[in-house]
Amino acid sequence: MKHLTSETLRQLYLKFFESKGHKIIPSASLIPENDPTVLFTTAGMHPLVPYLLGEKHPEGARLTDVQKCVRTGDIDEVGDSSHCTFFEMLGNWSLGDYFKAEMIPWSFEFLTSPDYLGIPVEDIAVTCFAGDNDCPKDEESAQLWRKCGVLPENIYFLPKSGNWWGPAGITGPCGPDTEMHIIRNREEADRLGKYDFDNAPSGTFLEIWNDVFMQYNKTADGAYEPLKQRNVDTGMGLERTLCILNGKSSVYETDIFERAIEKIESLTGRKYGENAEVTRAFRVVLDHVRTATFMIGDVKGIVPSNNDQGYILRRIIRRAVRFGRNIGLPQGSLKEVAATIVDKYADVYTELVKNSSKIYEELEKEETKFSKTLQQGIREFEKAVSALSDGGEIDGVMAFHLYDTYGFPVEITEEMAREKGLTVDVKGYEAAFAEHQAKSRAGSEQKFACGLADHKEQTTNLHTATHLLHAALKKVCSPEIEQRGSNITEERLRFDFNFSRKLTPEEVAEVERLINEQIALDVPVVMKEMTLEEAKIEGFTGLFESKYGERVKTYSIGEFSKEICGGPHAEHTGLLGKFKIAKQENVSAGVKRIKAVLIK
Ligand code: ALA
Repeated sequence: MKHLTSETLRQLYLKFFESKGHKIIPSASLIPENDPTVLFTTAGMHPLVPYLLGEKHPEGARLTDVQKCVRTGDIDEVGDSSHCTFFEMLGNWSLGDYFKAEMIPWSFEFLTSPDYLGIPVEDIAVTCFAGDNDCPKDEESAQLWRKCGVLPENIYFLPKSGNWWGPAGITGPCGPDTEMHIIRNREEADRLGKYDFDNAPSGTFLEIWNDVFMQYNKTADGAYEPLKQRNVDTGMGLERTLCILNGKSSVYETDIFERAIEKIESLTGRKYGENAEVTRAFRVVLDHVRTATFMIGDVKGIVPSNNDQGYILRRIIRRAVRFGRNIGLPQGSLKEVAATIVDKYADVYTELVKNSSKIYEELEKEETKFSKTLQQGIREFEKAVSALSDGGEIDGVMAFHLYDTYGFPVEITEEMAREKGLTVDVKGYEAAFAEHQAKSRAGSEQKFACGLADHKEQTTNLHTATHLLHAALKKVCSPEIEQRGSNITEERLRFDFNFSRKLTPEEVAEVERLINEQIALDVPVVMKEMTLEEAKIEGFTGLFESKYGERVKTYSIGEFSKEICGGPHAEHTGLLGKFKIAKQENVSAGVKRIKAVLIK
């Protein structure tokens, strides 16, 4: 077998399929486009679903790429030799073009040819679909493998649980597959004989590639309807293949992590492989920092938050901080480890280089935030568990307290509990969480009530005009201007703000002009809910002394005005009429007041 680096393997794969008429396409974002069913791209086929269903791809019917993927289902397993939350999938696709008769010989050629992977044919085992009521036995694939030279005793048939691929549990294109494995333990394989693939001790066969023959669309009611076109979708795990080809016992020992391991060793004075516990901590830091680097550095980059993708990112970073502490990784080191990752992938994923300052800043921010409370939170946790005996349960209110006050994602509390033979009352945690959310929603609605006398149409319009006024004053008079008070009736708005003098007639005219321009443009007023922290990052103005994690409503009027606010607002600025400043008043030395009206 060949000894390859990650760079060579990527190139070999793409070049091979280019030589078979495929167009090389770039990796899509890690954040799926228009797909509410998953948070991250989990396979190479994912961004291609519309084309697998029949839409024409601009690059044609034969495509190949290396796709960035994230799977976080087994995050707690990360630390062993094989689990990673981020990985790269090498893949190629036929969109209604070639099928089994071309794909299987190509797979065989790539695996065995000395110009490519050079794997001895006797080390290759394949599995094919055994057949059921939905789809017949895949004798055709087995026949093709035999013709290529795969030894008949190394061809196995498995049912749907083993040889069927489709996005797990959801609807979409799917079909029978044939999987390629490297036989790692010949003696064991020989002893097993045929059709006992499932009972082999783990490590006997190692899967490296999967060819899916997509012929069906799984519908919401669980039926398999034939697709308009027959596709091929293949996936080869880059890290796993590298690890096997190079005879390594863990994906963490491939060239991908070499520099990062050296970095952690120099930062901690510990050695990767020193003992099982240290190795586990190294691997958690390596994997999680790499995943966080790709998430923040993505073209649709995300930042840590309390929802959806942002929450997963937060959880990953915080888990890395916790494990890093166990090997003495100094605070502020995650960004240094991330720098080795950016460097390693610089030529393949240029977005990482472009977004490197953002990656380092976000990692540092999140690490600092969590480091502040980590020790105290651990003490609190220890106190809570000291009263429990083995097999005991940490109550939900305590788990929520650890989250709310010390920033411990409940999954981290669960993992810490497991390490002590305990569990967490997750239902109780969720109930405490929901109760807190209801309270803070009521709180923020009051806090951001914005001084409206009522919710009549014209009061609402004047409220939107108040946002425009606030933004215009910042632009015309000073970016330091902030709201000091607001009172709105059906007749007029009244807005108090920090400023040392009255506006000049020119300034008044300019403020009015800017606002009437936004009204003439008829800009939609867009409401979005997010956490206070996210609102701050996205540049919304408002009060920020509130509690960590609180959800707020934000209103944007294009890029002109962005405020945290409880609403209500006009749907679009065209409803407002003509804006006019009616009066200026002096509230105090540092605070001025404007009264303004909307003329229909
Ligand atoms: N989509 C297939 C997989 O992820 C190739 O295994």
